[in-house]
Amino acid sequence: MENLRDKTALITGGGRGLGKASAVALAQEGVSIAITGRNEANLMTTVAELQELGIKAMYAVFDVGNYDSVKEGIKSIMDTMGHIDILVNNAGIAGVGSFLEMPVSEWEQMIQTNLMGMYYVTKEVLPQMVERSSGDIVNIASTAGLNGNPNVSAYSASKFAVVGMSESLMKEVRKHNIRVITMTPSTIESDMTIGLGFAKKGSEENTLQPSDFAELIVSGLKLPRRAMLKSAALWSTNP
Ligand SMILES: NC(=O)c1ccc[n+]([C@@H]2O[C@H](COP(=O)([O-])OP(=O)(O)OC[C@H]3O[C@@H](n4cnc5c(N)ncnc54)[C@H](OP(=O)(O)O)[C@@H]3O)[C@@H](O)[C@H]2O)c1
Repeated sequence: MENLRDKTALITGGGRGLGKASAVALAQEGVSIAITGRNEANLMTTVAELQELGIKAMYAVFDVGNYDSVKEGIKSIMDTMGHIDILVNNAGIAGVGSFLEMPVSEWEQMIQTNLMGMYYVTKEVLPQMVERSSGDIVNIASTAGLNGNPNVSAYSASKFAVVGMSESLMKEVRKHNIRVITMTPSTIESDMTIGLGFAKKGSEENTLQPSDFAELIVSGLKLPRRAMLKSAALWSTNP
């Protein structure tokens, strides 16, 4: 089993939802954490909670969909943390609307954030992993990246693209001792799914919770380095 203590993780969208749960679960393993997002108040609150767990934590505010801001934000994290062992590409948005009715700008925004954002952040974090011949990248796709459904064409397109990019990158960098893990979870209770009406607030009884997802990420990262969780689909047992 791989010991995660004293490693450093960067989690995009770490101020709430799945990203925050992953940050907390990794901090509980003794991992130093950098989180990012656009909402500084959420990031500050989360960093304070992470520091209470006795680890080093920091945040950077930037839009993952803007490459210049990504470069600046990742540089500020590298300057403080030194290097990144674990990258969790979690930041993302979702939207529902028919193919014809969804405005072009909203469709584009989903691709820009979910696909281009993941590409930009990974492009800035990967070189130091290749240089050190070590690293783990966890890319959050979705069941929507495996199957299309009505009224989610943009979200589904962005997540199919993430699955393809992630598998391609995995095959490219595994020779550098870098594991790339593609996660394809089903509905988890969060601001995103409550907002879209896919989950109800307080549905712990039968709906996946962000902490379930975080537990799976930590378990995958703890596998011996010779073993890589290539992809993982997490479903509710009986929603
Ligand atoms: N919940 C689910 O059922 C589910 C299922 C499958 C996959 N996923 C995926 O899991 C990831 C997290 O989802 P969630 O449910 O935790 O959603 P959420 O509660 O809405 O959180 C989204 C996170 O992404 C960040 N974010 C969004 N756009 C951003 C941008 N342009 N730049 C920087 N940060 C940005 C947000 O930070 P700020 O608000 O600070 O910008 C927030 O921390 C997403 O990629 C989502 O597609 C979720």
